Amino acid sequence: MKLCMIGTGYVGLVSGVCFSDLGNNVVCVDKDKEKINSLNNGIIPIYEPGLEEILKRNFKASRLTFTTDLKKAVSNSDIIFICVGTPTKKKSNSADLKYVFAVAHKLKKIISKYKIIITKSTVPVTTGDKIEKILNNLKKKKLIDVVSNPEFLREGEAIRDFVYPDRVIIGTDSKKANRILRSLYLPIIKKTSRYFNTSRRGAEMIKYASNAFLATKISYINELANLCEKTGVDVKDVSFGMGLDQRIGERFLRAGPAYGGSCFPKDTRALIDTANQFKTSLSIVKSVVKSNSQRKFLLTNKVEKILKRKFKNKTITFLGVTFKPNTDDMREASSIPMINFLSKKSCKIRYYDPSGEKKVFKKIKNVKFCKNISSACLKSDLIIIHTEWNDFKFLNFKHLVRKKNVVIYDMRNIYSPTKMRKMKIKYFGIGR
Ligand code: UGA
Repeated sequence: MKLCMIGTGYVGLVSGVCFSDLGNNVVCVDKDKEKINSLNNGIIPIYEPGLEEILKRNFKASRLTFTTDLKKAVSNSDIIFICVGTPTKKKSNSADLKYVFAVAHKLKKIISKYKIIITKSTVPVTTGDKIEKILNNLKKKKLIDVVSNPEFLREGEAIRDFVYPDRVIIGTDSKKANRILRSLYLPIIKKTSRYFNTSRRGAEMIKYASNAFLATKISYINELANLCEKTGVDVKDVSFGMGLDQRIGERFLRAGPAYGGSCFPKDTRALIDTANQFKTSLSIVKSVVKSNSQRKFLLTNKVEKILKRKFKNKTITFLGVTFKPNTDDMREASSIPMINFLSKKSCKIRYYDPSGEKKVFKKIKNVKFCKNISSACLKSDLIIIHTEWNDFKFLNFKHLVRKKNVVIYDMRNIYSPTKMRKMKIKYFGIGR
């Protein structure tokens, strides 16, 4: 099939590359000339394991192209995916849909034969209706179907999530569009995943409902972790024991720092905003947002306690600063407020992250990026394991720190407290 991805951000690029690998002809469009030039030279703007290899393979086979020419790309394609950003509006919780609507206005001038227009960007319920309204003339002439097909990819695991999704959600009441999209997704849904056709509004809602539910699951276990710490219970056992109940499931029950990234924080807030517009209160989602923002302070307080409030000239090492492993993404990473706070308290902060140095810390006083784990840990007063990269899972801390007193705050519960105690390492975890 001939596909056009508008927007080469995370969703557009990963989906475009993966669709081309299934044998489709995919053209990825972006108005950012520099980005398109880089992509045409095989340079990928995001950090996603496995993406480069698949991109190069399909680019070489001419199934995958990159352009800034929207008109040509749309005219030569049958299915148009809108994958532009939907950031949070300034000073508000609502999703800013200006990029989505701008694309719709451009499509209005280009389309002259039948095309399926799909929103893959995360958009609030009723956005599809608004796009259809913009394209009203084309709809009347039966030249378009506007469909919602939300994306459930996780950063760092996106290729696997694309090829083996739990489900493919298609929001449309058009039989024609549904038939075409089912055959587009056939190579994927043949495996194990479920194809679910629902209303367009239903599909839009499923996306937000899923992200808000996962954020709720994480916040729930994070709050229970606080209680576990006070009662001498290991939250890892609680997650495992709970997860054995298939109605609950063990995934997304790992306690840790506040959740971050570009999706959960933004989407929970946008869902609350949509609910407000429809005069409905989502009190649970509101509590999740509050609980997650308080968590950043809660964990910083714990660092204060570990240091016995003696900050001056203390060397603190952060192992991992990204919001999760296998990405270089720093959006809403809880390491940012923590490092800010500790820097203000005159601590000396060193950090190492496998995805490299971070711009956000360059301006902050007393913060230094180290090129490897050893230089980051040497003679450190406290090591904070903030992100669970594989690189941090088998470390010999005594050897790395080379000090009498080794103190570890393992925010991802990677290590065994018993083993740490046996090695005479002062160890703190989350909820244990
Ligand atoms: C999330 C969803 O998982 C995807 O399904 C969705 O497609 C995506 O948002 C999106 O809307 O685009 P992502 O933000 O890439 O994906 O990352 P997650 O793996 O969901 O992690 C989000 C945050 O939750 C991270 O800070 C992570 O450390 C935290 N987390 C996750 C926990 O603290 N505990 C867990 O058990 C799981």
